[in-house]
Amino acid sequence: MSPFQLTRTLAEDAADAALRADVLHGLTRDPKELPPKWFYDARGSELFEEITRLPEYYPTRAEREILMARSEEIAAATGAQTLVELGSGSSEKTRHLIDALLPGLVAYVPVDVSESALKGAGEALAAERPGLRVHALVADFTHGLDLPDAPGPRLVAFLGGTIGNLLPGERREFLRAVRGMLSPGDALLLGTDLVKDEATLVAAYDDAAGVTAAFNKNVLAVIDRELGADARLEDFDHVALWNREREWIEMRLRARHALSVKIPELDLVVPFEAGEELRTEVSAKFRQEGVRTELAEAGLSLTRWWTDGEGRFALSLATVD
Ligand SMILES: C[S@@+](CC[C@H](N)C(=O)[O-])C[C@H]1O[C@@H](n2cnc3c(N)ncnc32)[C@H](O)[C@@H]1O
Repeated sequence: MSPFQLTRTLAEDAADAALRADVLHGLTRDPKELPPKWFYDARGSELFEEITRLPEYYPTRAEREILMARSEEIAAATGAQTLVELGSGSSEKTRHLIDALLPGLVAYVPVDVSESALKGAGEALAAERPGLRVHALVADFTHGLDLPDAPGPRLVAFLGGTIGNLLPGERREFLRAVRGMLSPGDALLLGTDLVKDEATLVAAYDDAAGVTAAFNKNVLAVIDRELGADARLEDFDHVALWNREREWIEMRLRARHALSVKIPELDLVVPFEAGEELRTEVSAKFRQEGVRTELAEAGLSLTRWWTDGEGRFALSLATVD
């Protein structure tokens, strides 16, 4: 078998139908919102990689610091032969974990909606680490995953704080589904960004160079291209704000003036008032007790909790009860 294999579990027309349904539902409700997965076409994935290198975006550096310090411990604790990574993107930080798990590691299964990110990362990894089987899945991790056959124990990694992009009800459902993928002896490695001062949090989502603004507006470019819409990126401002009550960052797009967006593929005209906002992402921030409780509600026990030196980001290791 070739060391790199890619399986599309999202048929092109299913992805298209999902986009149509999300846009129709999200842009005809009040307030308007869209799920963040639609940021990630090839351009969106590139912009996200640029974000990870910004001086203001501390989560990637903090999580990498923990992975560099703890990967050997994670490998010893899990003895994983298969590493499944949800929302793997470039798999860049994951290399530390993969190297610690080798030579016992047989298969790496990166899962992402972004085919371009999976191809780039998967081909490079298979070439760099001969003997490692890389089986990439183009799939939506919120919709029942059909994982390829691969030996246990399995470690499922969900890094980057991506769990914070799910709303609380979606998180509950997601963690239960992850629990369902695990057998006794398997484990979950979960990256969560932590609650901290508002200025640091907001700056991470509103950088001086405007890369996050471009990433946020990319969702409009996706709708324009895929659904023939006529949204003009320059008609919207990027907004990042801290919701103290919910302890999450919200990214929004705010209409600079009254306008309407035509979406011919949906036979829809979407009016925006001047200043009206469309929520494009939440990014929840966590505390240890909250993570422990959410895991426990899904039937998972928090067994290890590591943070970076400045206590900005945490990695949790959880096992099945
Ligand atoms: C915040 S980025 C994190 C990327 C990488 N794990 C890291 O830590 O840098 C989120 C990643 O999850 C992917 N993603 C977002 N929603 C998804 C979904 N519903 N199903 C599968 N992948 C998704 C995106 O394409 C992107 O690669």
